[in-house]
Amino acid sequence: MGNYNRRRFLKTAMISSAIGMIAAKDSISQKLEPSSHNLAAKISKQRTLGSGRFCLSVSSIGFGCMGMTYNRSAHPGKEECIRLIRNAVERGVTLFDTAIIYGPLNNEKLVGEALEPFRGQVAVSTKFGHEVINGKSTGKQDSRPETIKRYCDNSLMRLRVDCIELFYQHRFDPKVPIEDVAGTMQELIEAGKIKRWGLCEVNSEIIKKAHAVQPITAVQSEYHLMWRNVEKNGVLSTCRELGIGFVAYSPINRGFLGGNINEYTKFDTKNDNRQTLPRFSPDAIRANMRIVEVLNEFGRQRGMTSAQVGLAWLLSKSPYIVPIPGTTKISHLEENLRSAEFQCSQDEWNSLENELSKIPIIGNRYNAEQERQIRG
Ligand SMILES: NC(=O)c1ccc[n+]([C@@H]2O[C@H](COP(=O)([O-])OP(=O)(O)OC[C@H]3O[C@@H](n4cnc5c(N)ncnc54)[C@H](OP(=O)(O)O)[C@@H]3O)[C@@H](O)[C@H]2O)c1
Repeated sequence: MGNYNRRRFLKTAMISSAIGMIAAKDSISQKLEPSSHNLAAKISKQRTLGSGRFCLSVSSIGFGCMGMTYNRSAHPGKEECIRLIRNAVERGVTLFDTAIIYGPLNNEKLVGEALEPFRGQVAVSTKFGHEVINGKSTGKQDSRPETIKRYCDNSLMRLRVDCIELFYQHRFDPKVPIEDVAGTMQELIEAGKIKRWGLCEVNSEIIKKAHAVQPITAVQSEYHLMWRNVEKNGVLSTCRELGIGFVAYSPINRGFLGGNINEYTKFDTKNDNRQTLPRFSPDAIRANMRIVEVLNEFGRQRGMTSAQVGLAWLLSKSPYIVPIPGTTKISHLEENLRSAEFQCSQDEWNSLENELSKIPIIGNRYNAEQERQIRG
């Protein structure tokens, strides 16, 4: 081959190899482009809590803010938490849950500051009932009308809003008839201080009595794959019959179903109630890991993490259920919101429930004192 011909050959070979590389790159990007996984998780699905005049339309997954200051061990600083809450708003979350007792008080303050720029665009729910004196919990209940009204005024200030979107009684107060609590809620609605109200961890009888006085928007109780009492005690069916929404708290069983907790996990002795819960003793954790393994196995075949399986299962249960997972991490927020993107058939969920039913759950969810406050 002469010099001219060799140069022509090399040039042609380089051009065709470059064309080949571009073509190969195109076919890879074509394969990747259509997936929504390339975008940041954004929740677009809505659910309605309650009905009629007192209904509330929110993102199908809410955000539980408690662990950002309270009961979930170490947490990032205020600025990081504010950034995460605002990130959740950008991703379409419109329901944020807090309570006076979380902190106490500092969780409402954090949520108030974080969500101030989004007033009118998102709903904050908060809760009264646990007695707080001079910023400290007394461990008692106080749902007397005058106390509720005072707590409401203080919550409005901490949350930096004119009106609370959803005000729950946190725990039933045996000294105050539920009709009186409902009547107080009616007065607060008429005064424009709250828009709607709800109850936590109560039975069907209490829900019915309260709803007859002032319609309830949502009942908030514990509900997840390791605690399904509300299916059996009539609470879910009462909500369905009366058109009341259901907010599932601790939907990942306080992190356990996410698989990051094991028998060696150390809970902060000053800021974590999990160390007081029988289900979080090292022995119970070790035994209950079999449950997480079933979720992992189910998830591996479908591209889901165990936390996503737990949340997607809750969403599949009824259209009036809204889970409120809590997190301090953007990666977990992303993961939790993506739960709403998975669709499994009823047969698939039945097979998951069937597998789980073979595993005994070790340890009570609450200790005796905490269980005593429940009217389930
Ligand atoms: N009404 C009531 O009586 C009541 C009682 C308890 C709670 N609540 C409400 O329910 C909300 C949530 O409850 P909760 O905090 O007890 O339980 P949860 O949401 O079931 O679990 C929260 C824990 O799970 C971890 N987590 C979150 N997403 C995860 C993921 N994808 N993978 C692995 N771990 C994950 C979090 O740690 P990271 O920070 O590391 O993500 C956090 O420690 C609270 O914020 C509160 O608003 C209400």
